Amino acid sequence: MSRNQTHFCEDSKMSFSPEWEHLYASGAHHSVWPWSELISLIMRHARPHQSEAPVQVLEIGCGVGANIPLVQWFGGVFHGVDNSASALASIRQRYGDKIELAQADFCEDIPFIGPFDIVIDRASLTHNFTSGIELSLDMVEKRLAPGGVYVGVHWFSTDCDDFKLGEPTEDPHVRKGYSRGDFAGVGQVHFADQACMEHLFSNFSIEVLDHVISEAVKPERQRLGWWNIVAKKKNT
Ligand SMILES: C[S@@+](CC[C@H](N)C(=O)[O-])C[C@H]1O[C@@H](n2cnc3c(N)ncnc32)[C@H](O)[C@@H]1O
Repeated sequence: MSRNQTHFCEDSKMSFSPEWEHLYASGAHHSVWPWSELISLIMRHARPHQSEAPVQVLEIGCGVGANIPLVQWFGGVFHGVDNSASALASIRQRYGDKIELAQADFCEDIPFIGPFDIVIDRASLTHNFTSGIELSLDMVEKRLAPGGVYVGVHWFSTDCDDFKLGEPTEDPHVRKGYSRGDFAGVGQVHFADQACMEHLFSNFSIEVLDHVISEAVKPERQRLGWWNIVAKKKNT
């Protein structure tokens, strides 16, 4: 059964946190190395290296382009959308015009038509309110080619210490206002449990859903938790 759109009050319609632009402009969060969990899931479940034609890839929330080297390695064609001008400028400086980029709030518009074989999302949708995430996932689903896959890693889990910190918002899944730790200065953060993940992806066929718990000991004890997901476009 398809999900109905979730509605919260006015504030939660805001999507992109402008804090991201401030962080990138100040030189923070410039990670430029592909994320290992993303590499494993893409290679195991999307098998881009076995495709005869170049694989069309869209990354939503591409940041400064950490995942571009992976896509180039398997010969894919990279398209990235992000709403931080500074992050996109950093990619253009390193890759020139070889990469297709668009600046947009991906909860309002994904300005690429597709169809895409793979949509990558590393910790990007999870920095939005539930209503914006739902709108964005509807656009992602429409832009996927038949049999195309969404691969998302680092969807933050309600089963982690940070879910109890920060300020509550009118969206029960979202907290904001972190002043220390990994979420300091990033604006809103969405936390999901299993039911929430299954609800968000109910228009897809969920092929993989991993709940990863990590107990950090140093520099301080902390319980971290996140979801990784591979969701396929349903045959219609
Ligand atoms: C945690 S960073 C991840 C960056 C990149 N995916 C990586 O793995 O290094 C989240 C990114 O999502 C972008 N983002 C978050 N919400 C957005 C929105 N609604 N529209 C466009 N970009 C958004 C931020 O600007 C930021 O670049």
